Amino acid sequence: MTDSAHRQTWSAEGYERNARFVSDLGSPVLDLLAPRAGERILDLGCGDGALTERIAMTGASVVGLDSSPEFVAAAQARGLDVHLGDAQKLDLIGGFDAVFSNAALHWMPNYDAVIAGVHRMLVPGGRFVAEFGGHGNVAAIVVAIGAVLHARGLDVRTWSPWYFPTPQEYRERLEAGGFSVETIALHPRPTPLPTGMTGWLETFAAPFFAGLSEADRPVAFAEVVERTRPALCDGRGNWTADYVRLRFAARRT
Ligand code: BEZ
Repeated sequence: MTDSAHRQTWSAEGYERNARFVSDLGSPVLDLLAPRAGERILDLGCGDGALTERIAMTGASVVGLDSSPEFVAAAQARGLDVHLGDAQKLDLIGGFDAVFSNAALHWMPNYDAVIAGVHRMLVPGGRFVAEFGGHGNVAAIVVAIGAVLHARGLDVRTWSPWYFPTPQEYRERLEAGGFSVETIALHPRPTPLPTGMTGWLETFAAPFFAGLSEADRPVAFAEVVERTRPALCDGRGNWTADYVRLRFAARRT
């Protein structure tokens, strides 16, 4: 939920309608974080604060950061301590026991700057626990978008706002950045889409279509919907996206 080459913008209302499942499905990474009362925890790309609030309920002292003014306002309305900022340029006062992130790191193309910033924010021995899109995430959707862009002379790689690494690649980046990795793995998680493929594309995939005219964008969206339908829509009209999550816990050495 931060900078990308082709900037993603967020609507708190659209997110509530099309993507509430993102925080609803956050329990595995929260369990991995295992926050304790009194700990200082930083939530990177905290969105509208739904998981930040769950961390705060454990008695931990949690600070949120997000680059979307809409999300920051929504999170502050929950009474949370949340700041507007870019996780790729972390300049908060550090000393955190843990840095947490859900569904945000794949929006941050400067992954090494993120890892270096998290290292600065943590006390020695502090934990970095996160989940985000891993290698193969939403592959059927990416292939469909690629075909639709290709037909218009555009290359999907140029327009992709996402970074979906393999566990091996991200492990190496963490180790090079001064972390020891305790666990890192891909977790395939077919994810029901409450508002179908159109709602999902509107919320998550707009940067891919930034090179098209306004008139062509709805046409391109409809083409992606039809290309993904055979793989992702069942006989009753229910859509399920081919999510693959990368979940890890690492420690600052
Ligand atoms: C997300 O931000 O949750 C997301 C982005 C791209 C693909 C899948 C999920």
